[in-house]
Amino acid sequence: MIIGVPKEIKNNENRVALTPAGAKELVKRGHSVYVQHTAGEGSGFQDEEYEAAGASILPTIEATYAAAEMIMKVKEPIEPEYKLIKEDQLLFTYFHFASYEPLTKAMVESKSICLAYETVEKADRSLPLLVPMSEVAGRMAVQKGANYLEKPLQGKGILLGGVPGVLPAKVLILGGGIVGTQAAWMAAGLGADVTIMDVSLPRMRYLADVMPANVKTMMSNEFNVRKMITNHDLIIGAVLIPGAKAPHLITRDMLKEMQPGTVLVDVAVDQGGCIETCKPTTHQDPTYIIDDVVHYCVANMPGAVPYTSTLALTNATLPYAIQLADKGWKKAAQNNPELVPGLNIINGDIVYQAVAEAFDMDYTPVVKYLAD
Ligand SMILES: NC(=O)c1ccc[n+]([C@@H]2O[C@H](COP(=O)([O-])OP(=O)(O)OC[C@H]3O[C@@H](n4cnc5c(N)ncnc54)[C@H](O)[C@@H]3O)[C@@H](O)[C@H]2O)c1
Repeated sequence: MIIGVPKEIKNNENRVALTPAGAKELVKRGHSVYVQHTAGEGSGFQDEEYEAAGASILPTIEATYAAAEMIMKVKEPIEPEYKLIKEDQLLFTYFHFASYEPLTKAMVESKSICLAYETVEKADRSLPLLVPMSEVAGRMAVQKGANYLEKPLQGKGILLGGVPGVLPAKVLILGGGIVGTQAAWMAAGLGADVTIMDVSLPRMRYLADVMPANVKTMMSNEFNVRKMITNHDLIIGAVLIPGAKAPHLITRDMLKEMQPGTVLVDVAVDQGGCIETCKPTTHQDPTYIIDDVVHYCVANMPGAVPYTSTLALTNATLPYAIQLADKGWKKAAQNNPELVPGLNIINGDIVYQAVAEAFDMDYTPVVKYLAD
């Protein structure tokens, strides 16, 4: 198969969908890989490394789209890319269709095949191509939180791990899923006093088994949250209710109960945030202050560490990309049920029900395309 890797053109997106190591794997299997000039630069990969791996460099985004049967990307195509997408071309990338109607309509019109990273799903309902970015964001939440606790950045002026003779900072993590667990490991490793709150007892039992002694668990409910926020230094929002807006576990009135200089990192900002006063910020201007409480609410945290994020993402996407390249999308999906929910749009038909419902558009069950 001919695989094209365009340079991401979305604002501040430095990740790339394929590393030189990934290109080598695909080339080894007899596929042709075309990488747009400087596509890997933002993640630290030079054109020469792709060439050494057997890929060819194309000068423009137009040439890359024109050459490819399968396009591998990171972010959804944006408006200037719509016209470059061809009928029957397979696009393997994050789409998040339900959040943007013009993209959905453009991809329907393109008659391409859209396989979305975010809806590839394992039998246990986990989302293997979302996990790596949650891992990055969870670990980063502590790094950022520790930084903003410094006085010059308007935090309390407390060192996360303390020093001998001085107590460490207290870190509260709301939600003990992927983000919360990774945040807990980082905070615990730095010596902080960590509490994870969740509503799932099985999850807390698991966390209590695997976490070090400086991590405790506590049932999440309004009474307990109100009590805990009064004496914690760094609070990380990591709650997710699949398919729904995040619940506001910290409401506006609660900020007054916190100590000045407390830092809130609401990782769940992309689902509306679990802190009522959370509004999306950017890496250029990541924080704001309300009632002396520092809010960090960057919606694309992994974008700040493109090297790590690219490797983490491509570790997860490459095995699927290889199946798609070796077999074509149809046979690959017939052989691997994890890919089936990834199919969102095929040749002008919306085959993912939630996307069709989001815009009141026609829905075609995907079996129409997978039979035979
Ligand atoms: N800002 C970013 O850059 C970024 C990056 C990656 C992920 N995220 C977001 O982070 C959030 C968490 O993602 P995840 O992968 O950890 O999800 P997850 O499903 O693995 O974990 C969510 C956890 O929240 C718990 N929960 C649900 N309701 C709760 C409540 N009322 N109180 C406490 N806990 C509750 C669940 O039991 C679960 O353990 C999501 O909104 C995700 O989109 C943001």
